[in-house]
Amino acid sequence: MTAIGIHDLELATTHHVLNLADLAESQGIDPNKYHTGLGQDQVSMPAPDEDVVTMGAAAAQKIIERHGTGGIRTLLFATETGLDQSKAAGVWVHELLDLFSYVRVAEFKQACYAGTAALQSALGIVARNPSERVLIISSDVARYELDSPGEPTQGAGAVAMLIAADPDVLTIEPVSGVYTDDVDDFWRPNDSTTAVVDGRLSVRAYLDAVTGSWDDLASRGGPGADTLARMVYHQPFTKMAVKAHAHLARHTGVDLGEGGLELGSVYNRRLGNIYTASLYASLLSLLDHDEDLTGERIGLFSYGSGLVSELFTGIVQPGYRGVDRRTRVEALIDARVPLDVASYRDLHSRELPSAVDVEMPRITKGPFRFAGIKDRARFYQRTGN
Ligand code: CAA
Repeated sequence: MTAIGIHDLELATTHHVLNLADLAESQGIDPNKYHTGLGQDQVSMPAPDEDVVTMGAAAAQKIIERHGTGGIRTLLFATETGLDQSKAAGVWVHELLDLFSYVRVAEFKQACYAGTAALQSALGIVARNPSERVLIISSDVARYELDSPGEPTQGAGAVAMLIAADPDVLTIEPVSGVYTDDVDDFWRPNDSTTAVVDGRLSVRAYLDAVTGSWDDLASRGGPGADTLARMVYHQPFTKMAVKAHAHLARHTGVDLGEGGLELGSVYNRRLGNIYTASLYASLLSLLDHDEDLTGERIGLFSYGSGLVSELFTGIVQPGYRGVDRRTRVEALIDARVPLDVASYRDLHSRELPSAVDVEMPRITKGPFRFAGIKDRARFYQRTGN
């Protein structure tokens, strides 16, 4: 059977950042609640001329620069931050990246799980024709109400991945465990720009999904827990991965050790929750920070509230490190411009009705910008950066 998996991956994030120590101070809360209790330090915040399209295109552009467009016939865009009820956000990316007209585009939705749904679909496409490659973009802006418990777990970012046969980074093993249940733990009604969440229920639902997915994986003859060298988890906040890992160890009865959680959270602590991209940012963080993982098996747990979840495994390939990736990602994260709390609250409160024509101010230093709305349609520009 042809080995298929992640051939390359790249991260992008926003122009701005909010330091959670500043947020805690403004709320009269001990900053350790966020730093230690939730395991979060910062929140990426988009400038008015940034959104899931600009971040997703920026991440995907780097992959195209390295690999060209050869073999790409499919672009799958996963997001919880849908920009239109009809048009897939990936169509704007298709235009910004100048992809061929024969590249099909579609959008995947199921909260934070959608990136994994896209990955599973991509594996099927490449299995049918190993000369094809699939570009997946997971891109999100996590927004909760101001002054709500979810506020410190906001974030924004995108991860683009190229799925191919004989991949350089991670082959995905064929058996996976799935667990789906209809639970109202987190959702976003059509008329709301912020998520509705029952935080306590969402944590319980996540933990149930870990064990449910594991049991399905085990019943299908998946690899034993004692063969998992590392685990990466969807990280709404990095402490959630710690809770999930301990829960999985108790459930399997296997000592899973620390599992690489700290190194798999370096980027996530600074980006915040990036919904569909969170699991893959954690994978990137682990690959960029751990010692040589070549040949090791990694478990990946994907969770999307509502809920759909999946636990699957991959084997790290010899070419996985990539050229200068860690330096590049760190530079991107370090370059974000800090917001004071008042400016953050202003930015958060901005409304953007689609019925009014608007031109956005030029702020982003990224390669693409959301330029505005005309006749109810969004339009984008290359910035030349
Ligand atoms: N120093 C150190 N730790 C402190 C502290 C201090 N001064 N004060 C509090 N803490 C600890 C608490 O003990 C607690 O730790 P444990 O969970 O290990 O006991 C932690 O900080 C958080 O404290 P609270 O539970 O009191 O926090 P909260 O009620 O204000 O909010 C939350 C926590 C419910 C997760 C909230 O942030 C939230 O609603 N987030 C959004 C929903 C979410 O992320 N859910 C996760 C699962 S759903 C999912 O994964 C999908 C998705 O992406 C959203």
